Amino acid sequence: MAGRYLLGLDVGTSGSKALLIDDAGQVIADATTEYPMATPRPLWAEQNPADWWRGAVVSIRQVLRGVDPGHVVGIGLTGQMHGLVLLDRGGEVLRPCIMWNDQRTAAQCAAITKQIGATRLLDLIGNPVLPGFTAPKILWVRENEPEIYRQIAHVLLPKDYLRYRLTGEFQTEVSDASGTALLDVAQRTWSAEMLAALDVPLAWLPTCHESVVVSARISPEAAAETGLQVGTPVVGGGGDQAAQAVGSGIIREGLVSVTLGTSGVVFASSDHYRREPNGLLHAFCHAVPDRWHLMGVMLSAAGSFRWFRDALAQSDLAEARLAGVDVYDRLTAQAATASAGCEGLIFLPYLSGERTPYPDPDARGVYFGLSLRHGKPHLVRAVLEGVAYGLRDSLELMRALGVQIEQVRASGGGARSPLWRQILADIFQTEIVLVNVTEGAAYGAALLAGVGAELYRDVAEACNQMIQVTARVEPGPDRFAYADYYEIYRALYPALAPLFKRVGDVTARQVYRR
Ligand code: XUL
Repeated sequence: MAGRYLLGLDVGTSGSKALLIDDAGQVIADATTEYPMATPRPLWAEQNPADWWRGAVVSIRQVLRGVDPGHVVGIGLTGQMHGLVLLDRGGEVLRPCIMWNDQRTAAQCAAITKQIGATRLLDLIGNPVLPGFTAPKILWVRENEPEIYRQIAHVLLPKDYLRYRLTGEFQTEVSDASGTALLDVAQRTWSAEMLAALDVPLAWLPTCHESVVVSARISPEAAAETGLQVGTPVVGGGGDQAAQAVGSGIIREGLVSVTLGTSGVVFASSDHYRREPNGLLHAFCHAVPDRWHLMGVMLSAAGSFRWFRDALAQSDLAEARLAGVDVYDRLTAQAATASAGCEGLIFLPYLSGERTPYPDPDARGVYFGLSLRHGKPHLVRAVLEGVAYGLRDSLELMRALGVQIEQVRASGGGARSPLWRQILADIFQTEIVLVNVTEGAAYGAALLAGVGAELYRDVAEACNQMIQVTARVEPGPDRFAYADYYEIYRALYPALAPLFKRVGDVTARQVYRR
């Protein structure tokens, strides 16, 4: 044991995770402390920054058990992006964090877009202003909680609140800052024009660094609470998606990741700044200096499979429990008996609306093409295929921008299924691989800390040493059938969009009446 450790800290949506690795990349310890998320009104999602801190302290103390804190040579932070944390002049939290999945700001987004113009916005920040992003939340507070707004002295992102508690510094880094709608993503600095247009003072914002830079050190107060050593360096870190990409080695053009979690993410590293002409892909700074990334987000990926389990497979769930097997393995075994394309049954996975490529809260899930021949195996398989078609939409937007796609690395719960991986390879028409590291964003944050602590020359060296491909799937003969079905899949949303809108209006009226 060389005795050099790196600590990754992740302020997740469900808990604060601490991950300790050694300088060879081996996991020494990890711990997660959960906390609640409040939904005080429909579409709202809030968390208490004090809970993140308490959770982080517990998790850090757990992973440090039996470890000399003086051997922790660097700390990297990551976390849920886009959240709005407001502090007063004394550094006290003013209200609960308005989180990434909070949808209350549709009116503010529309107002910003009208004021600045959709095209000018894309020029300024590389992206449209979406309800989850940080800037419209500041405007919401201005309009709805003026007494809070008057006291604002600092605006922070979730992981940067943790940094403040650990080091006393107000800082962020480019990858997370990209999701605020206040960063000039091309220039990697705060956008003066955007700040002026929204009347947000620069003094409220943290200083913005590159993700691998050591920008702060553990304070005596934080050391006393966490057991870390005073002065331990803290690097910028990254938003959870960028850090997760570093943790799976997606750090140069050609490498793409697909994550099958509740939501699905397609993430491509880009060697230069580019954006989708209509802003359909997120165009953000990467946590790697001089690199950017493009990202498509599907809201219900493995979440669609979970919906299927809960809504249509209760008997499988009960039987799987009795037999002590995984219900998803049982369902995918059934799906494997149906043929590719499910004899014309196509599932649209828009169960919670969609973000990419259709930013449409009214979009809904659909089974299209049901016939008397279709049984449960088809219904399951169509879900797996529909998610893969939807993720391919993001890949196609990337291909259209000239992004090279050499290899797609799959991760997340859904990627554990060999059938789903084969379906992805066939529908994407690319090789799908798995890598040895499955620790996600916290691992990437720890690697960024290793670069800051100069254990590795750069992020590429760290990733090359730690991350290896462990399994590969090549596209098989089913890809020909899928090519035809994908064309039909693509035609379905545009045909149905006006009806989704009408259904949305009708159900909103009914809910209102009730
Ligand atoms: C990224 C995004 C999520 C959150 C929460 O744009 O919205 O990944 O960061 O995980």
